[in-house]
Amino acid sequence: MQTRALGRTGLSVSAMGFGAASFWGHPAFPEAEARRLVHRALDLGINLFDTGPAYSRGQAEGRLGRALAGRDSSALVVATKAGTRFQGGRVRRDMSLNAIEASLEESLRRLGLEVLPLVHLHGPAASELTPDFLGGLGRLKDRGLFQHLGVNSFDPAVIDAALALPQIDTVMVDINVLRPERVALAARASAAGKGVLAGMPLAMGHTAPSRLHDLRPSSLWYALRALKNHRADISAGRRFRFLHDQPDITGPQALLAWVLGVPGVSAALVGTTRLAHLEDCAAAPGLALPADLAARIAACQARP
Ligand SMILES: NC(=O)c1ccc[n+]([C@@H]2O[C@H](COP(=O)([O-])OP(=O)(O)OC[C@H]3O[C@@H](n4cnc5c(N)ncnc54)[C@H](OP(=O)(O)O)[C@@H]3O)[C@@H](O)[C@H]2O)c1
Repeated sequence: MQTRALGRTGLSVSAMGFGAASFWGHPAFPEAEARRLVHRALDLGINLFDTGPAYSRGQAEGRLGRALAGRDSSALVVATKAGTRFQGGRVRRDMSLNAIEASLEESLRRLGLEVLPLVHLHGPAASELTPDFLGGLGRLKDRGLFQHLGVNSFDPAVIDAALALPQIDTVMVDINVLRPERVALAARASAAGKGVLAGMPLAMGHTAPSRLHDLRPSSLWYALRALKNHRADISAGRRFRFLHDQPDITGPQALLAWVLGVPGVSAALVGTTRLAHLEDCAAAPGLALPADLAARIAACQARP
């Protein structure tokens, strides 16, 4: 597996990261299958795992911790979030320092780690990134709760605010063929010395043919999530269906090759519930996106 430097953190991460989130962490997805995926990811050379206390109805972190138990975690980059938690049937947001401190302590316990290698503030407002707040986070870092701090947001204004802050090491943004405007953002982040992690690199599956005919619980769950939250992306994704009909590269590999070709991106975080899909994606780092596909992607992105 190709590895890349994560900004100026000194960390080296696999170009493909494992997204320990979504249906993978859902109670309806069997724990044994979830564990098998993590172990296969490790075998494939993946050392970057992204999760969060609010992911998968609050179940993802604990599940990842159990899957990694007994494994050598010294070379792993386990990234989690702070500022949100799952409580009372919904995701609750609390960016106070007290809540973050409690959340980090819980994350350490659930993940079975002595220190969190990387923590992303989960959707902070730019106005919350004050010197006082960052100073408080610095004290939590000095306490040994975490090593590197990042910001996860889909709001470019928040990311741009984070780029000016020396306390922020990394940014996690949605980067995929449906978000060409992120190319310039990734370049700015990289120029500012930040590590860039691409979330939703497969555009959450929106470029692929519909899976509604596939009655697996995961397919239904992803299809319902898309219909509920991402109708515009479903429609935009249709333009890129040709990527799934190529002789020498699979659709997910082409999507990942595009993301990993965005200057500044260190790793793409893939979410999957299937071993075959994991292996398919893990073959993408290092693959060159064929020039004709790159040109067709650019042409589709340029269309109004
Ligand atoms: N979604 C968010 O809001 C968000 C926010 C912040 C960070 N992130 C990070 O980004 C990661 C990925 O996000 P995501 O899971 O929402 O989107 P994604 O990785 O872009 O897409 C996941 C979808 O692609 C399918 N898939 C994966 N590999 C495939 C393959 N080889 N062939 C066919 N289908 C394949 C998965 O289905 P199968 O399960 O059937 O493989 C799933 O439906 C998260 O786990 C998290 O770490 C996400």
